[in-house]
Amino acid sequence: MTVLEKIGSPPTRLGGTALYDWDYLVQEDRAHRLIYTDPAIFEAEMTHIFGGTWTYLAHESEIPHDNDFITRRMGLRPLIIVRDGAGRIRALYNRCTHRGTTLCRWDKGNSKSFQCPYHGWNFLNTGKLRGVPWPEGYAEDMRDPKYNIAQLPRVESYRGFIFGTLNMAALPLTEHLGPIAKIIDEWLDRNPGGKVVVCEANRFRFKGNWKLAYDNSCDGYHVAYSHRSLLETENRFAGENAKGMAYYRNSPDTQPMYMRYTGHGNHFKDKRPNLEKRPGGLWALESAHPGMEHYEADFIKRYGERAFALLDLAGSEPVNINVFPNFSLLGNHIQVFEPVGVAETNAVWYGTMVVDADGTLGDAVTDINALRMRTQEGFPNFGEVDDIANFEQIQRGLMAPEDEWVYMNRGLGVPGRARNNDDGSITAPATDEAFMREHFKEWKRLMKTHPDLAIQREP
Ligand code: FES
Ligand SMILES: [Fe+2]
Repeated sequence: MTVLEKIGSPPTRLGGTALYDWDYLVQEDRAHRLIYTDPAIFEAEMTHIFGGTWTYLAHESEIPHDNDFITRRMGLRPLIIVRDGAGRIRALYNRCTHRGTTLCRWDKGNSKSFQCPYHGWNFLNTGKLRGVPWPEGYAEDMRDPKYNIAQLPRVESYRGFIFGTLNMAALPLTEHLGPIAKIIDEWLDRNPGGKVVVCEANRFRFKGNWKLAYDNSCDGYHVAYSHRSLLETENRFAGENAKGMAYYRNSPDTQPMYMRYTGHGNHFKDKRPNLEKRPGGLWALESAHPGMEHYEADFIKRYGERAFALLDLAGSEPVNINVFPNFSLLGNHIQVFEPVGVAETNAVWYGTMVVDADGTLGDAVTDINALRMRTQEGFPNFGEVDDIANFEQIQRGLMAPEDEWVYMNRGLGVPGRARNNDDGSITAPATDEAFMREHFKEWKRLMKTHPDLAIQREP
């Protein structure tokens, strides 16, 4: 038996009228500043979007063993993502059922139970209340399920990536991901055995709305301008062999790269067609980072002809894969957007390691992973700061109340630029804002729909 509790109506104005006219606030070619600045809209997003659709929570490799846990958030809900003693992954609310105290104050660990620091109620990692101090002081039966920790009713993984939702009407995760799952597969399957293990992260916090980051996730228009100093740094010593994102320098729409919208707010920007298809083709693009030449020479000495194929496993895969609302795979990283407030967001960049899942890498795996860590010193350090500076400056610009609109109409109405594919996806040049117009349709759909939300407790 599953104890499900339906959650009441989402936030609406008195009398059941909608909070706003969403069709007015988000139009085909423009969006109103209020969607980035209004605390009431932010609050509604925390149930309609974060909770109303599948949200990325964690990676299975972060909790590899029974009773491992990691603390995360879904929107503003503090969660404990735990693999219980039976191996089942659960997302428990990190909130004591007595008076609401945060139960677990650790980032991660291994524990069969959680004891509340306030009055000592003790819970099993299944969420069940195990005991309370001096129970004779309660007239009620403390085995009532209402005292068990709330948890997400739906937690599903796709190839190690754990997502959760409160929405009982949401499609199964794989269907929800749809065509973007194939691109995630490609990102994983370039590694022997098709696996990654998540490492620690670069953590950024910016003073801006979370959507500013998602609006940037597939944006090929800004690169040559926003990241000019990075492009110049990467290419200072490169000669003819353009490095990093150099293919953005001159008229990026004529380069062999594109963006594709795949539905449900998901999209990807594919720069892989720029690669030379040969062992070392990806590595050749990798911008300079400390120790690189030493490792390269060492790989050639030790592995001979295999060296460049192995070095490619350290290279940053030139694709950005974005799953609405909070997840991106880019280069060798997983980026997660965590709303903190209407004008405050965490942008967390998790590094990933390859694993020698099928025994083909042998000793090389350690060196590949050492090099992968160094790629962390490229874009996540020198590029992300450019983007974050822009997000903060946008938030500042949007505080001017009278100038109301931001535009996302690049490519719209230009004949022959975008293509509607048979599978329902849309392909457009890398600098088009089609991805943003499309993810805002999904945003609007979720904001308009009355979500069928529920939490669950152990019986
Ligand atoms: S608030 Fe947790 S035991 Fe009192
Ligand atoms: Fe950027």
